[in-house]
Amino acid sequence: MTIQLATREARTVFSLRFGGEPAAVSWAPGRVELLGNHTDYNGGLILAVALDLGISVAMAPSDESPRRLTAYSTTMESPAEASLEPIGRSSTRWINYPLGVLDELAKSGVELRSLRMTVASSLPLGAGVSSSAAIELATAQAAFEILGGRPDEPFDEVKLCQRAEVSFVGMPCGLLDQFSSRFGKKDHALFLDCSDLSWSTAPLGDEVALIVADTQVKHALVDGEYATLRAHCESAARRAGELLDRPVRWLRDLTLDDFLEVAEGIDPDDRRRAEHVLRENERVLAGRTALEQGNVGQLGKLMLESHESSRDLFGNSCGELDAVIEKAREIDGFLGGKLSGGGFGGATVLLVRRAAAGDFVQRLATAYDGLFEKPLRIFTTRAGVGAHTLGR
Ligand code: GLA
Repeated sequence: MTIQLATREARTVFSLRFGGEPAAVSWAPGRVELLGNHTDYNGGLILAVALDLGISVAMAPSDESPRRLTAYSTTMESPAEASLEPIGRSSTRWINYPLGVLDELAKSGVELRSLRMTVASSLPLGAGVSSSAAIELATAQAAFEILGGRPDEPFDEVKLCQRAEVSFVGMPCGLLDQFSSRFGKKDHALFLDCSDLSWSTAPLGDEVALIVADTQVKHALVDGEYATLRAHCESAARRAGELLDRPVRWLRDLTLDDFLEVAEGIDPDDRRRAEHVLRENERVLAGRTALEQGNVGQLGKLMLESHESSRDLFGNSCGELDAVIEKAREIDGFLGGKLSGGGFGGATVLLVRRAAAGDFVQRLATAYDGLFEKPLRIFTTRAGVGAHTLGR
């Protein structure tokens, strides 16, 4: 579903459910991570792409009292309501993302009103393509229009939505998802340095197709494993600081050489995780150079190395994700691929020569068929624009 279709759906369903026209309509894309797996909360480097798939929100204020959010998701086919005075977590999980954004807006001094909103999505949920950041960014764009409070600095929108996810939803994520959704650029990859928030873009070129293959294995990132991996990284950084006898705030403060010098003294589980992160940072730099040189073959190789590192060092792959990569390797036109996002299921991102993409998708589906309980859900996508409002 294109931006136009999703926004039309959000707008139409808004009028049907609530009557009248929305006061603001917005769009925010999902993302895939090309390189830089679990680097963001370690102050590391990222190479990502915002997708041409995403979420559209249609929103209007109302005078209902006490103030409340009334929402409807066309994907979930589910209405949900929650109080805005006070704001509390809802048992309907998806409404917590918009609620978290409104909570952050209120904390920044914006006066909330009752709001009605509809949500239309072209993103598969729970597939690791960040429907959560997309709904946060789309809510924020519409809410800024209606309530005010848009930060002067665009990166502060990213931080606001990340805070919503960490404090309200309870997922201790980094900046990758919200950054990609906000700053997406058509047919470009996005580079971010999470230590100083400097970022840039690089053209993907027209030789490659981006294919997302979703294993439909549900990842449950709020449920502990992500936080555990994060804790391993933080513990490795702390220990390396002690051994090097200098302050190490996060893994980014270590070069790979620093780390290798003291690696023996670090707990083996922490050590494997830290090595993955530090080598990912190096792969991001190499990947950016490869893109600048138009060398998509090299980018693909780096993605394969990244996947192997997730599998062998970081421990966030699974049988289904590994099988997608192994099967893809046997098909013509495949340049490289990896798991994307938190891991433990969800999606792989595959870089394929554009001319071979049609056949590739067919052959991958056939090769994977019957291996696991659920079939692969495969879609060909491309780099799309970032979050914005569309007027009414
Ligand atoms: C999830 C998180 C991101 C990032 C990735 C792994 O998508 O939300 O912040 O840590 O996992 O790179």
